[in-house]
Amino acid sequence: MSDRTVDVWIRVTSQPQVDAAGPEHAGLPADGLDEHERRPRRGFTDPRDAAAYLDLHLLARSEIGRVLRQPPESLRFDRTCPDCGRQHGAPRLLDDPDLHVSLSRSRRVVALAVSRVGPLGIDVEHCAGTAFDGFAAVALHPDERRHAPGSLAATIAWVRKEASLKALRVGLRVDATTFAAPVPGVAARVVVGLPSVTVADVAAPPGYAAAVAVRSTSGDLDVVGH
Ligand SMILES: CC(C)(COP(=O)(O)OP(=O)(O)OC[C@H]1O[C@@H](n2cnc3c(N)ncnc32)[C@H](O)[C@@H]1OP(=O)(O)O)[C@@H](O)C(=O)NCCC(=O)NCCS
Repeated sequence: MSDRTVDVWIRVTSQPQVDAAGPEHAGLPADGLDEHERRPRRGFTDPRDAAAYLDLHLLARSEIGRVLRQPPESLRFDRTCPDCGRQHGAPRLLDDPDLHVSLSRSRRVVALAVSRVGPLGIDVEHCAGTAFDGFAAVALHPDERRHAPGSLAATIAWVRKEASLKALRVGLRVDATTFAAPVPGVAARVVVGLPSVTVADVAAPPGYAAAVAVRSTSGDLDVVGH
């Protein structure tokens, strides 16, 4: 990876591979997963969501392991939530904290981003996810409210914003209507008092939008899709 590289993986997940019995039941390498990654056994009612969740974490271990030349199952993550201390916050790679990681999932599409540029966030969203009355009022800045709910434009604005808030580690604790989506390649301070972020759009399957954001004062990111 070059100094300005952000590596991204977008995948459409396969058919459900897990059921209520959990990953071991499907012969998946559950021993290589930590407790958080096995959560679909308890956290999802729809097995397709559980399968996508598991696929995403397996993808993350596999690709990060390849980058670090370490066995995927040896990787250790800290996900301490700054609000409550539980292990459900942004992942931090204990084996190499300067390699920043972000994950996202929407329906059957999963997204992974990895970079040494700085803390980053990736977000993927199905357009149907923004197709509800009141979306603009809860998600868009007044300058963005021309975008119809469910449109690709509204969904692109949303993923740029959520990726930015993930890069800042605040997530949706910050009201997304307080700022407009950053223009790709232009560093922007979206939250007063926090660092600037630079966003880039990421190619996504039809009906989806994806974006990645990195804490950075410079716009020259080199986004590499895999
Ligand atoms: C981060 C957040 C925007 C993700 O929402 P989402 O659209 O439902 O989910 P995505 O699939 O895009 O991303 C989920 C991933 O974001 C990451 N994540 C979680 N919290 C994060 C944060 N504060 N900043 C950046 N990334 C975060 C995790 O890797 C998570 O993956 P997991 O499901 O394996 O835990 C949302 O969870 C949030 O705003 N969290 C912070 C506020 C909060 O709820 N705090 C908990 C108080 S106890």
